[in-house]
Formats: sequence, C-alpha cells, structure tokens
Amino acid sequence: MTTLERTAECTVTFRRDVALQTRDDQVLLGLADRAGYRLRNVSAAMREALAGVEAGMHTAEELAQQYPGSPVAGVLAKIEPFLATGIRLAGCRAAVLERTGITELRPPSPDLTGTTWLRLGKFSLLRRRGDDLVLESPLSKYRAVLLDDAIAGALGVVARPVSEVDEELVPVLALLAGAGFLDIGTEDGFAVDSDEVLRQWDVHDLYFHSRSRIGRTDEPFGGRFPYVGQIEPLPAVKPAPEGPRIELPRPEFDRVRDGDPGLQETIEARQSIRAYGDEPITVAQLGEFLYRTARVRGTYGPRPEARMPYEGSSRPYPCGGAGYELELYLTVRRCAGLEPGIYHYDAGEHALRLINTGVADREELLRVATLSTGGQAVPDLLVTMTSRFQRLAWKYQSIAYAVTLKHAGALYQTMYLVATAMGLAGCGLGSGDADAAARAFGLDYLRESSVGEFILGSAPDELPAPVSGDGALDWRPGNDPGWQAEALAARRG
Ligand SMILES: Cc1cc2nc3c(=O)[nH]c(=O)nc-3n(C[C@H](O)[C@H](O)[C@H](O)COP(=O)(O)O)c2cc1C
Repeated sequence: MTTLERTAECTVTFRRDVALQTRDDQVLLGLADRAGYRLRNVSAAMREALAGVEAGMHTAEELAQQYPGSPVAGVLAKIEPFLATGIRLAGCRAAVLERTGITELRPPSPDLTGTTWLRLGKFSLLRRRGDDLVLESPLSKYRAVLLDDAIAGALGVVARPVSEVDEELVPVLALLAGAGFLDIGTEDGFAVDSDEVLRQWDVHDLYFHSRSRIGRTDEPFGGRFPYVGQIEPLPAVKPAPEGPRIELPRPEFDRVRDGDPGLQETIEARQSIRAYGDEPITVAQLGEFLYRTARVRGTYGPRPEARMPYEGSSRPYPCGGAGYELELYLTVRRCAGLEPGIYHYDAGEHALRLINTGVADREELLRVATLSTGGQAVPDLLVTMTSRFQRLAWKYQSIAYAVTLKHAGALYQTMYLVATAMGLAGCGLGSGDADAAARAFGLDYLRESSVGEFILGSAPDELPAPVSGDGALDWRPGNDPGWQAEALAARRG
C-alpha cells in the first residue's frame, strides 16, 4: 500500500436522517420517524456552528476554533447520538459513516502503510438506500453513505486484493477498513480466510441475522405498522381460491381428548417417520390433522386501542400478533377418499379447494420432497406451508421474514405432535422449491410462497428405531432416554 503521511479528514456531521429546524433561539433536531431533541437558548454563533455540522465540512477542532466563544464541544457531546463521522476528500464531502449500533462515533483508522493489502470484505454489500449509495456489513456497526463516486469506484477495485490504490483514497479506505467493510492483509493472505467462524457464515444468513435482531441495525424495527392509512392489511383469513370445494370431516373433541396419549408421552414418542403403511392415510385422518393443527377457531378485531389495527384470528398454534399469515397446501399422492391433486386448505371453512390437477406439478413437488429425505420417503401427501408475507410486513418492520420462519417452527412442532398423537407418520422438511410451489399453487412468489414442508402419511407397521435404539454403538446415554423408549413402546402397543 502506498505510504501516506496524511490521516483521513474526519468531519463532524449529522446522521442523514436528522433534520435541523431553527426557531428563534431554539434548535430542534428531528430524526425521521423518531423522537427529536430540542436545544434551548442557542446563541447565533452556536446556530451557525450547528449549520456547519449539518454541512459536514468541518472537523471538531475546526468548529471549536471557528466559534471560540461558543460551547461547541459541550453541545456536540449533548447531541452525540444524532452525529455521524463525515469524510472530507479534496475539500469535498465524500462519505458519511453513521452508527447502526452502539459504538464510537468515529471508527479506528488503521495504518495502511507498508506491505498492506486491501480487499472488500466478504460480507460487505453495496446498495441504494433512498437516494444514497450505501455500504453495509453485518460485521460493522457503521453504515457508509458514499457521496463521492470515486469511492464506489475504489470499492470495485478492491473487489480483488490490491496493494496499490489511488493515493487520494487511502485515508477513506483506511476508515472503511477500520469500520469493518474491508479486509486488511499482507502478501501472504488475509487472516479472515482462516477464521473458522466467519468462513461458516453465509453472507445472506449473517446479514439477515444482523437485521432481524436488535443490536446492529438502526432501521425501523418491530411492530410499527408502517403502512397504516396507505395500504390495506391482508385479511385475517385468506379468501379461498377458485376450485372445486371439498368439505373435510371434523373430529369430535371428546373423542380426541379421551383417545390421545398424554402430553409428555406424545413429546417423547415424536419421531420423524419417512416410511408409510400399506393402506394410505384417510380423508378423515387428514381432516382431523388439519383441524387440530391449523383450523381457524374464530376471528376478532380490529382493536386499535390494543395496538391491533387489523383483524386477528385464533388457531391451535401460537403466532406473533395473531397475524396467522401461514397457509397450507396439500399435494396428495394417495389418500383414501380424496383424489390425487393439489389442494388449498381453507382454514376458515375447514374445507379443501382443488387448485391444480396437473400431474407434472404434483410429481415435481413430491419428487423434491422425496429428494429432501435422501430418497427415503414417498409420502402419501406433502403439506406445504406458504407465507402471505405482506400480512406480517404490514405490521412488522425489519423482522417480518424472521417472524414468519418462527411461526413455521411453531407449526412444525404442532404438526409433529398431532401426527404422533394420531398415530400418523410425519416428518418436517426444510428446503422445498419455493418457486416451483408458487407456480403449482398459482401464487405470486413475492406475495405468497413456501417457507416449510411437512410430509404425512399412514404409519408403517414397523416404526423406525430411535437413534437411541438397540445396537447403536455410538449412542451415549444422556438424560432419561428411557422416557422415549417407554413412550414408543406405548405407541407400538
Ligand atoms: C425444520 C425441519 C426441517 C427438516 N428437514 C428435513 C429434511 O429436509 N429431510 C429429512 O429427511 N428430515 C428433515 N427433518 C427431520 C429431522 O431430520 C429430524 O427431526 C431429526 O433428525 C431428529 O429426528 P427425530 O425427528 O426423529 O427426533 C426436518 C425437521 C425439521 C424440524
């Protein structure tokens, strides 16, 4: 790397989402969508200094020198959360580093002299945010707003490891490296390449993690209802699609309650079963399974006074905000009393709608399901969970997709337990083809597509041996594995 004596010129500026309003001797610092801060009795010189901060062209030292009689340092300390670090390049504002988590206002600026090599970090993402070009990384607690195109150009250059860059840009790249956007290495390589933890993180996973939990994001977060008054929420219960309607049998509560094994026995006897009986599952069993796992018990609301400006529903599995965005589709291969085909489950009416009779679509979805089990299972039927994404996104900002995956998890376990209690063979699957499913179900991928699958069928004569089963030489007993053995023996009995 080019030897350079000069350090980066870091200016004091406001975050991009701060708006400055001056009224008489008061200055209001407003954050888009968030609480502001009022400075009172602000002198004319101090107001001028704050305008300088807004312009982002001065270092803290320059501001103090320029307004010697004003308590610049004290005021800046008071409004520190509203501040960001500007980068001045050849007398122009080149970039702004905004904090996205709790960290120092200014990132460290590592020394890039000597035999330093630079490279764009694996997790660094360049994108448009509003009208800004921004550089983000889940490894960084800063967002770099790039105001000078030369910096974006330099990032293109460092996509490959380099030891020479435009001398002018070195201070900027040093700060971007200090903020965690660039890797620093030597001619022998980059330390991150042998970091076993970072190597095992996929870019999209870490980005998703950092954006769907508090701590490394300053984006609007949680149940904020950003589209109230602009976009209508999706209905609590999806209107049934077109197609022949098939009423499903309903179980009797007394029979279910009296016939089921106890809770702990059901939990212990739960297994993933990828083999099936000679006789297929029946439509009565399917009706009972869907009724017990996913039916709509009722709807209620809106209750704006209880922060619920939308209609909710009640179903057997838990769901954040009672949003119930998950839908079920059945791809039926064999089910006594039900023709093979692809059906939507109308959870409100406890009925099916035959939506696709195409053999190719059905076989494709079942083929992927079989593949997911390593070829072990040719299920009686495949239950695909889709998410009506906008049902959640209407309420939850930043976390809608994470929340829908959590709901899928709750529904998986409910399905596992009900299948076990009913003596059916069930197995969760994690990686269906969302695009093929959207095509087969006639859905718009962006509005509703699959987030999980569960295969279901009649139980085989022989239940699979649990992993703790006889003869497993690598089995190391832990806490009461006998509970499972006992529950399975009861199930077999
Ligand atoms: C979300 C989820 C995804 C799964 N994905 C698959 C899968 O794609 N293929 C498969 O054969 N089993 C899958 N399983 C089943 C697991 O392999 C199984 O739960 C695990 O091995 C433990 O065994 P047990 O369920 O019999 O206790 C999945 C389970 C869950 C909960």
